[in-house]
Amino acid sequence: MCGVVGLFQGCPAVSFCPARLRPDRTDRAQDPDPDAGTSAPAPAPGAGDGGAAGEEPYRSPFRTWYERASVRQAPRRLVTAADGGVATFFPPALVPLASHRLVRDLGPAAYEQVLVQHLYRYLDFTAKLEYLVVNRTALGIAHGSVDLGLPREMRLDALKIYCDEAYHTLMTVDLLEQITDRTRIAPRLPEEPYFLRRLAAIQESTEPELRPLVELLFVIVSETLITGSLSAIPRDQELLPQIRDTIQDHASDEGRHHAYFALFARHLWGALDTRTRRWAALRLPGLIHTFLDPDLDSMREELLGYGMPKDSVEQVLAEVFTSAGVQAYARSSAETTVRHFAALGVLEDPEAREAFDRQGLLPPAGPARASSAPAPDPADPVTRRAP
Ligand SMILES: [Fe+2]
Ligand SMILES: [Fe+2]
Repeated sequence: MCGVVGLFQGCPAVSFCPARLRPDRTDRAQDPDPDAGTSAPAPAPGAGDGGAAGEEPYRSPFRTWYERASVRQAPRRLVTAADGGVATFFPPALVPLASHRLVRDLGPAAYEQVLVQHLYRYLDFTAKLEYLVVNRTALGIAHGSVDLGLPREMRLDALKIYCDEAYHTLMTVDLLEQITDRTRIAPRLPEEPYFLRRLAAIQESTEPELRPLVELLFVIVSETLITGSLSAIPRDQELLPQIRDTIQDHASDEGRHHAYFALFARHLWGALDTRTRRWAALRLPGLIHTFLDPDLDSMREELLGYGMPKDSVEQVLAEVFTSAGVQAYARSSAETTVRHFAALGVLEDPEAREAFDRQGLLPPAGPARASSAPAPDPADPVTRRAP
């Protein structure tokens, strides 16, 4: 539609082009990449090795997409009344609130609601992340308004991501509605997930020309964290099969997205000048926490809704989400993401390294040489992704 009406005039996707940040923008505009479709851009002047997509040919993670993508081959996961009388709606071990004695003391009916509400939060978070944030970037890459001189095939692959994320939105909203019908438990969801409010606040405090870059960085972060986030749940055999299968469908697609956005990060870094790279490096820790930190407001409202006294609610939140636990979880979940950025030289800047360290994202022994053993999780990534 927008390609016909107004030829994209006023299309929000056009407005987030980081090309204006590049010192070589004019030259590139006059001299389109002759190798489009086969190679990545050279690093920006003064960029060191950072942008390091180098001259490698693009090897698409989507070579089997038409055969394997969920949107192409997965059946609708249909919840029926006959399914799993004993199955759970979310693994209790992965629901932070469910671990607290005062929550268990609410009784079996409220306890089940806590699990179901956690599923709702996870699904709502996922849907809104996909269609309100990630797909804006996918569209921008495909359309070329995120102008990094990407190989033609990489832009085409962005359309596959666009299709994937649209389908992920559909299947998560569909599942949420089916579970609502099945359980008769109404969702207690905030109008806007916390991560969107935090992202908006960061955008507002950023000078306008750098706001598009904030969103690109956030998408790289979210797409490289997400695979780990989705990996635990499909193994849970107690879970309602349709929930497990939906999350498995999603996880298999996100493996390809992770590979794509790790490469995209290299292209982006290579297109930024040294000053902008430094600016971006200093904001990455905050963006990682924007994605991972728990939505305390939403959980506070939920617990109050069960009739729990205010003091008890605050006690539960303080004891479940200790700052040490939140940091350990973030460090563990972001390990791969931090490693991707470390490979771009992000941690070579002492101030940036200090920012990562201060926000608990580096292991005590050193930078991106994160330990192979993840820190103990106070809650599973999926659960912490949801709140
Ligand atoms: Fe997705
Ligand atoms: Fe994705």
